[in-house]
Amino acid sequence: MFKPDLYSKINNEARRDTRDFIEEYSNEIGQMSGRCLDIGSGPCDVVTDFLLPKLNPKSTVVCSDISKPMLDYAKEKYGANDRLSFLQLDIESPTLAEDLVEQFDHVTSFYCLHWCEDMRQAFENIFELLRPGGSGFLTFVSDFPCMDAYKVLAAMPRYQRYMTDADRFIPVFQHAEHPRENLKKLLREVGFEISHCSRREISNIYDTPNDFGRF
Ligand SMILES: C[S@@+](CC[C@H](N)C(=O)[O-])C[C@H]1O[C@@H](n2cnc3c(N)ncnc32)[C@H](O)[C@@H]1O
Repeated sequence: MFKPDLYSKINNEARRDTRDFIEEYSNEIGQMSGRCLDIGSGPCDVVTDFLLPKLNPKSTVVCSDISKPMLDYAKEKYGANDRLSFLQLDIESPTLAEDLVEQFDHVTSFYCLHWCEDMRQAFENIFELLRPGGSGFLTFVSDFPCMDAYKVLAAMPRYQRYMTDADRFIPVFQHAEHPRENLKKLLREVGFEISHCSRREISNIYDTPNDFGRF
């Protein structure tokens, strides 16, 4: 994702979902204090509008993203907020910087981790980033039926040459028979203790096809 301004304008549904999840877990989030890391913060609107007000007021958040344009946009827009700082980080990297290890009391991430092909590496990194006793609040897409369109397009001669990496965009748990159980097993193998893990079904209704692709 490299167009932060555009993303900010079209992420209404994701914003709404994250606002609702944060509200639902506001008691737990309110107990988060110290140094937090948000992974895949994008333009940082969600951190600023929904997460920051619910965290302990003394807490700070390091907003991270793989994308430099996203971070530049976020710094420009929210850089004056002294509870926020910014870090370029690929959460799937096999070579996590040593100076980040055990530097965070809490990790959050909203609608980012499904972009990772190697979920085990991403969760191992999250585990490494947390201090002993730290906690995480993570949401990501398990299964998004629209993503199957990538496969269909990739098989059409007209689009084939543009879609050589279609699998890259399909969430790891798409079509998994037991996604929640698979995720819990993976998290436990990495070393996490699970307080809560749920899979929610969310439907969005659009009046016209244009409302769906309204950018
Ligand atoms: C759908 S946006 C969500 C942004 C923000 N969390 C929100 O809820 O508005 C996903 C973000 O994850 C970032 N991202 C994708 N892969 C990543 C990775 N491997 N490490 C860190 N960030 C990543 C993208 O650059 C993008 O900004």
